[in-house]
Amino acid sequence: MPSFQTSPGTRDILPPQAGRWRAFSAQFADTVESAGYECIIPPMFEDLGVFLRLGDATDVVTKEMYDFEDKGGRRVALRPEHTAGICRSFAQHRPTTPWKVWYSGSNFRYEKAQAGRYRQFDQVGIEVLGSTDALLDVEVIALGWQFFQSLGLKNVVLMLNSLGDPADRAAYIEALRQYLESRSSELSEEARATLQRNPLRVLDSKRVQDKPVIIDAPTIAQFLSEDARGHFETVKAGLDAIGVQYEVNEGLVRGLDYYQRTVFEYVSTSLDSAQTAVGGGGRYDGLVEDLGGPSTPGVGFALGIDRTLLACDSENVFELGAPQMDAFIVDVVDGMTALRLSDQLRAAGFTVDRAYDGRSMKSQMKVADRSGARLAIIIGEDEAAAGNCTVRNLMTSEQQVILQAELVPHLASIVGERNPRRNTQ
Ligand code: HAM
Repeated sequence: MPSFQTSPGTRDILPPQAGRWRAFSAQFADTVESAGYECIIPPMFEDLGVFLRLGDATDVVTKEMYDFEDKGGRRVALRPEHTAGICRSFAQHRPTTPWKVWYSGSNFRYEKAQAGRYRQFDQVGIEVLGSTDALLDVEVIALGWQFFQSLGLKNVVLMLNSLGDPADRAAYIEALRQYLESRSSELSEEARATLQRNPLRVLDSKRVQDKPVIIDAPTIAQFLSEDARGHFETVKAGLDAIGVQYEVNEGLVRGLDYYQRTVFEYVSTSLDSAQTAVGGGGRYDGLVEDLGGPSTPGVGFALGIDRTLLACDSENVFELGAPQMDAFIVDVVDGMTALRLSDQLRAAGFTVDRAYDGRSMKSQMKVADRSGARLAIIIGEDEAAAGNCTVRNLMTSEQQVILQAELVPHLASIVGERNPRRNTQ
């Protein structure tokens, strides 16, 4: 047993899996940059106050915050999500609106670790600040949807709801509280405790005992103001217009308190754990102001990378590609030719690996086979003496002896032209 292992709820994302994560973020960037979103990299920790805006009745704030006093006596917290930090950033820098940004990074929540739920987890997401336009909600929701499709996922369902304006939401919460209290004797002990803190969260209960009470609960739809209802109708009409399918789910309330009007969640029906939400988001028109900035509406979403990749595994899509190398250099003389040639070939834009420690031809050829390289470039005593090398195609076993000085054009004729990484003239 080694002395140390990863902490509960954290994992090493090892190669080659980590390469898949990078490909995931790159594909996300490509999707959202096509719609004018630019990358933002906010800090991983902030003043605790930034995150208290997520809601004093939410689990994220009351139970899961990684907060501590730093050596300067500041109360800080590791970010449990990106949205609040991005609103703080907006209030601080006042960029022109609409401000469209995307991100990819880790978040920290002290949760009970289980499959699909970690204490350190990664999200990609987008946020737009500065517009209340319902068609912007449509753009945001559709971009998430299109991204899931681009991964090849078929079993993702889009859930949609409106929480109305703050006054609608407050009136609804009060009506819900009264209703749930009138039937509290039928609720589970956990749901009764949740009711004291946040009646909305009772609607999220997965316990069988709570279901009959939840089914008869008043719904938010009855409390929406004219404006909020109109906004929601436009969101639905917009999604219809571009063929994005959704289910209106009046029980969808989300786990963070800053939402108003549109909320949505992408749920994978191929994940069989309790953690089926692969992403979620909504409008948070009051958050920037809450953080001391100018009154500025906002909308966005975040997708969990860990969970979305689990969904990809269960649908057998977005699979790991085989490793790819153009060439592997086998030098059984003294390794100096391998050093020189690998440097030249990498500068010329090829992907090239080599063996070390002066191993035998047999053992170096084994490593070459495992590397996934198309070609082996072999330097034995004869080749070294004549300034040659043997180029062997590892698929067909065909081989050819050529001058080392002709290696770059020769490789290009087999694997294709590459863009030079360095100018070696
Ligand atoms: P969230 O629903 O808390 O929303 O998280 C979004 C997604 O992150 C979830 O659907 C899930 O896939 C993933 N996720 C959350 N917690 C964990 C965890 N402990 N382990 C693994 N994956 C997890 C937000 O974070 C909001 N900031 C989304 C947003 C952006 N709303 C507006 N803009």
